[in-house]
Amino acid sequence: MEIDNTAKNIKISFDGFSKLSFTERLEKLQQLGYISDINCLLLNGKNKLYLDLAERFIENAIGYFELPFGVAVNFLIDGQDYVIPMVVEETSIIAACSKTAKWIRQHGTIETRTVSNLSIGQIQFNRVADYPKWAAGIEEAKPHLIEMANDTIAKRLCERGGGLKDLKLRHIKRPDGGMMGIVHLLIDTCDAMGANSINQISQYLMPKLEEITQTKALMYILSNLTDSKLTEAKITLYDIENDVGEKIQEASLFAQLDPYRAATNNKGILNGIDAVLIATGNDWRAVEAGVHAFAARNGHYASLSDWQYVDNKLIGTMQIPLSLGIVGGVTQLHPMAKLAMAMLQVNSAKQLARIIAAVGLVQNLGALKALVTQGICPGHMKLHIDNICAAIEASEAEKKQLAIELQQHLTKSQYISNGIAHELLTKIRKNKSKINI
Ligand code: MEV
Repeated sequence: MEIDNTAKNIKISFDGFSKLSFTERLEKLQQLGYISDINCLLLNGKNKLYLDLAERFIENAIGYFELPFGVAVNFLIDGQDYVIPMVVEETSIIAACSKTAKWIRQHGTIETRTVSNLSIGQIQFNRVADYPKWAAGIEEAKPHLIEMANDTIAKRLCERGGGLKDLKLRHIKRPDGGMMGIVHLLIDTCDAMGANSINQISQYLMPKLEEITQTKALMYILSNLTDSKLTEAKITLYDIENDVGEKIQEASLFAQLDPYRAATNNKGILNGIDAVLIATGNDWRAVEAGVHAFAARNGHYASLSDWQYVDNKLIGTMQIPLSLGIVGGVTQLHPMAKLAMAMLQVNSAKQLARIIAAVGLVQNLGALKALVTQGICPGHMKLHIDNICAAIEASEAEKKQLAIELQQHLTKSQYISNGIAHELLTKIRKNKSKINI
């Protein structure tokens, strides 16, 4: 890559950058003025194990970015206790999750199940002249194609109980009036997320399908919309106050009907889900993509969860596509992911998916309850004050005083901000200098 650095009026070349050692890359960026000496130390001062991992996982590694690792407690899922590892930088998520799990433990249950377990590989035939003929050819060869794949490329998966289970055909009308034919390969990837297996099986079958249909295919790739790999979580709360139950039901209806609210509602669900996915080394981007596409499956973006208050019982349900693994990938390479997996004591990808679905629904309940009762601000404010005080340039004594004054300001005016914190700090300093005089 070449960039024109007008400030220095020189051409900078990044040729061979990826081949440099970790230290050489840092040196180069430092020389070019992209990282300061102090930041270079920050990047280089990490545990060697993590720097090696960074080199192994990604290209052009220059450091390791850490995130807070916490645990949500009080979880009883399908009658089993769990401590939930969560990697997340946002305050209140873990507190809300643990608090809500405790509420459910005292008043109800969390049940989960695997609804379906097949991943999807897609093969695109971008122009199909005669769709019925194309489809009929594939349908006829289907048993043979499945057998061939399972005897060869998917043999190891089959031995573990997985493999290629079915082929499904779809057609999409092109803007030019022609037809696109799509083959979906439905694959059980067992305990792996299985991206490589899905892509390899797709690659193996693509030329065979071309030969059968005498039609050229364009590409193959797994689909992240794994609506054939669904996990369900259900929360039942007994003897819930009418007022709270009804309000949560109404908040849920809002998220069903309004995409603006649905996006925020689903973000709350993913607050919990992503944190566990990251902790366990799973591909959270794949899950995010699938979950959002699934949320829009009925033609408009809607809430993933549904809450109903009936006969003093509050019942929440959620089905979501969760494509994840407990073998392969980062899950088994990253020491922290290994640690998180050991903490969860799961023995299958399905079990992990069930726990994660439960965490998402619990997180959702926590958010909805807060929103319809005290509102979202009070719960966040104590932590907000702590964060403001932690970030501000002040002595420990000043920070202590500032926290008290911010709390007083909040009680009086229901509002605080960084700007107000600076104003209050200035006053604290002025008062102190008066006393000293
Ligand atoms: C904040 O990270 C998440 C919430 O906005 C979720 C929601 O509104 O349901 C509180």
